[in-house]
Amino acid sequence: MKKVEAVLRPEDFERVKKALKQMGFVALTAFPVQGRGVQGGIPPHDMLPKMKLEIVVKDEDLEKVLETIIRNSRRGIPGDGKIFIIPVNDAIRIRTGEKGNKALY
Ligand SMILES: Nc1ncnc2c1ncn2[C@@H]1O[C@H](COP(=O)(O)OP(=O)(O)OP(=O)(O)O)[C@@H](O)[C@H]1O
Ligand SMILES: [Mg+2]
Repeated sequence: MKKVEAVLRPEDFERVKKALKQMGFVALTAFPVQGRGVQGGIPPHDMLPKMKLEIVVKDEDLEKVLETIIRNSRRGIPGDGKIFIIPVNDAIRIRTGEKGNKALY
């Protein structure tokens, strides 16, 4: 299992979320954040509002999910966002006790 953490432009988030749903990836977590990349914000602001999307996926679905996020957020200009990929040890669906891939979606 991998956790995909994507820091996105807030205005791209709805499109990314919709596209993920169309691909069958419904479950996710998202929250507003403040961040800066290598340009250090846009004066006078050194931090810009972004949306952080977290989605934990089966290893076999990783590339599909990355491609979907990138296809719906790349404009080819600074500030398009960044994706971090983190190994996940386990997951538990609290209601059923299911673990691992079966707990994801
Ligand atoms: N190394 C990092 N660690 C943590 N968060 C980061 C890092 N790089 C970028 N971010 C987060 O991602 C957001 C978007 O980054 P951004 O797209 O500006 O990256 P960048 O490296 O500056 O690339 P670009 O040159 O395309 O703008 C930042 O506002 C910040 O929240
Ligand atoms: Mg930047």
